[in-house]
Amino acid sequence: MKHCSRRGFLSKGMMAVAGGAASHTMKTQAQSHAHVAPARPVFVSTWGFGKPANEASMRQYKKNGSLLDAVEAGIRLTEADKSNASVGAGGKPAANGKVQLDACIMFGPGSKAGSVGGIEDIAHPISVARAVMEKTPHVMLVGKGAKAFALDQGFASENLLTAQQRQEWRAWKRSRKKLEVGEKNHDTIALIGIAEDGTLAGGCSTSGLAYKMAGRVGDSPILGSGLYVDNEIGAAGATGVGENVMRFCGSFMVVEYMRQGLSPEEACAETLRRIARLDGRPVDELHINFIALNKKGQFGAAGTGKGFPYAVAYPEFSDVLQSKSLSQKSIGIEGGNAPIEEQQ
Ligand code: GLY
Repeated sequence: MKHCSRRGFLSKGMMAVAGGAASHTMKTQAQSHAHVAPARPVFVSTWGFGKPANEASMRQYKKNGSLLDAVEAGIRLTEADKSNASVGAGGKPAANGKVQLDACIMFGPGSKAGSVGGIEDIAHPISVARAVMEKTPHVMLVGKGAKAFALDQGFASENLLTAQQRQEWRAWKRSRKKLEVGEKNHDTIALIGIAEDGTLAGGCSTSGLAYKMAGRVGDSPILGSGLYVDNEIGAAGATGVGENVMRFCGSFMVVEYMRQGLSPEEACAETLRRIARLDGRPVDELHINFIALNKKGQFGAAGTGKGFPYAVAYPEFSDVLQSKSLSQKSIGIEGGNAPIEEQQ
């Protein structure tokens, strides 16, 4: 796969819609609203580690044209990377030292979905989530039941706590630190895609917040929170502090804003504005980020604070881009809970 530079991407990959007389600001805005992939399939995922995941999705898609296989393959790559401390094997454990994983997958046609929460000792929760979707009458299995189902399906049981993560967890216990919720402990992968025929699908996988309470389940396996796919409109995924996404059905909200006509980027930004307004805390304390992709192949992302890197791949292109960022100042919120019209 050819990797273009970001500058190359801006000139080749995007369809510039800014007129010659537009100001720099207008051009920037127009370009940001014109994140359109010129060819399909398109894969969009969270963080820099989404780039190799997207590329694995693309490789798999080229093999058999299955979008679902492609989404699963991309996320499995991230889950297998033991140097990634927030997804799959090598993830940071819960406070009791056990790695507890959350994942979900959703297929646009028929709105099919599967999910697992707090599953232990199984390296690929995304594949278990897919098995829940395809082989059970249910949508979500949790804890021991999810593990028993996975074992029954032939998944291997293995210790997911690496030596390094055990050492760091012990140090954390010795330090008697409280759980710190911040930038460094919530790098979930959400990966969404659109096939050549317009079919949409997505998946999400995480080990959740580092040193979370045992049994805590975040947004990632909750449909509508960590992930949502609507085959008529588009798909969205979340990363960040799950508690600040799942109270608001964040990914569902992004899709609903796209339904109302907002671009994927603006839909993510508007979701952040609404969450910040309802929550009432300074936006920089929320640590949440969204990616989105619509039925036309337009994509975008927005995150609180400085924003976050997200990855995009389509034929002949794969790169990491910077999301739109929403700080307290750019959102214009003072004190929260005011109607959004008054803040703009
Ligand atoms: N977004 C991942 C989590 O909070 O568990």
